[in-house]
Amino acid sequence: MSSSPSAPHPLAARRSGALAGRVRAPGDKSISHRAFIFGLLAIGETAIEGVLEGEDVLRTAAAVRALGARVERLAPGRWRVAGAGLGSLMAPRAPLDFGNAGTGSRLMMGVVGGHAVTALFDGDASLRKRPMRRILDPLVLMGARVREEAEGGRCPILLQGTAEPAPIEYRTPVASAQIKSAVLLAGLNSPGRTTVIETEASRDHTEKMLAHFGAAVQVEPFGADGRRVVLEGRPRLRPARVVVPADPSSAAFPIVAALIAPGSDIVVEGVMTNPLRSGLLTTLLEMGARIEVLDERNEGGETVADLRVRASDLKGVDVPAARAPSMIDEYPALAVAASFAHGTTRMRGLHELRVKESDRLSAVAAGLAANGVAARIEGDDLIVEGTGAPPPGGGLVATHLDHRIAMSFLVMGLAAERAVTVDDDTMIATSFPTFRPLMAALGADLR
Ligand code: S3P
Repeated sequence: MSSSPSAPHPLAARRSGALAGRVRAPGDKSISHRAFIFGLLAIGETAIEGVLEGEDVLRTAAAVRALGARVERLAPGRWRVAGAGLGSLMAPRAPLDFGNAGTGSRLMMGVVGGHAVTALFDGDASLRKRPMRRILDPLVLMGARVREEAEGGRCPILLQGTAEPAPIEYRTPVASAQIKSAVLLAGLNSPGRTTVIETEASRDHTEKMLAHFGAAVQVEPFGADGRRVVLEGRPRLRPARVVVPADPSSAAFPIVAALIAPGSDIVVEGVMTNPLRSGLLTTLLEMGARIEVLDERNEGGETVADLRVRASDLKGVDVPAARAPSMIDEYPALAVAASFAHGTTRMRGLHELRVKESDRLSAVAAGLAANGVAARIEGDDLIVEGTGAPPPGGGLVATHLDHRIAMSFLVMGLAAERAVTVDDDTMIATSFPTFRPLMAALGADLR
């Protein structure tokens, strides 16, 4: 029932010289998932442009179809969703297989949890290891029932939703946009008001899209770094046009590659610069990166910019834990940049990295060690000692079904002394299916 694994396919990256050219990273994964889900919940036709056509998002599109929407691909990146409407979902006839996708599965648990349908959620070996209690706990408070689950609240999970989710006030136990979003999506079908409090702000794409589709949602500051989000239930969601900006988490790979490959000068176009997603940019600038933010503009409700990136002498920095939510998916790429920097980089407060597509804290430390980089984990911190010279490389990196581990270490190989090989590149298709041709267009030697 869970996704059948494809055969692992190793890939090596070799020292490539200067990278040059202009590229556009694929559409944002977080926004692409949400656009399909809101398309399901609105009655009428939602048009989506710039969709990330990666495996994760295609799984969400399939689930949206299974729950009663008509979903059509009109052209590359252009999709149309004719929604079933809030309160009118169909019970899926087969299990919802989310493959590798944590975001798709967790957000959809919120949707199902707030409707009178029952669905079986499942995925690949990576998704089956990820903790789902953090999503199920608030949904149970709202009236959903967990009929079956694997040990420790893991997939496969049979979730029975409720027709009348109770309005709750919920404080998320960790800074997580996925938990916040699942509660808000369930709360959409509640007759009352749903409040989510987070003590550290996480990405706000769900709140923005709620407003874009016509829901009454209020966002106010909470404490020094947090937010309170209040949603009025049972809005009339009207279909909308969604323009998906380029994903900063994918742009991270060509950006770091250009910083570490001597002589490089590239432009990555249309990258979303939402401050809740920009921690990597902030950190790289502190490290001395030559990145120019050009032509900052508004596209579909998000600010985007073209980023000109030139090879740079980087220096080690201390990355505060409070910055983690705004760059949670970028630490593997940052660790690679840090391995080329002069001096020590300490990345603090990375406990959440242990529950991503892999245990990323261990996977990054192991990959660095395999390539001759001095790195260690102290508590929840990752410390990388850069010498200012390219790392030796030559290692074989275990990717553990994790796309970002694969891409990060391939980037390292473009400028390390010797080639870096990853044991499997197939998972890259979950978030960045055009990674190889895009990097090759800049001059990267990947084979
Ligand atoms: C995401 C939220 C983050 C992030 C994930 C996408 C989202 O997870 O790691 O890749 O789209 O809401 P958490 O919210 O669990 O930190």
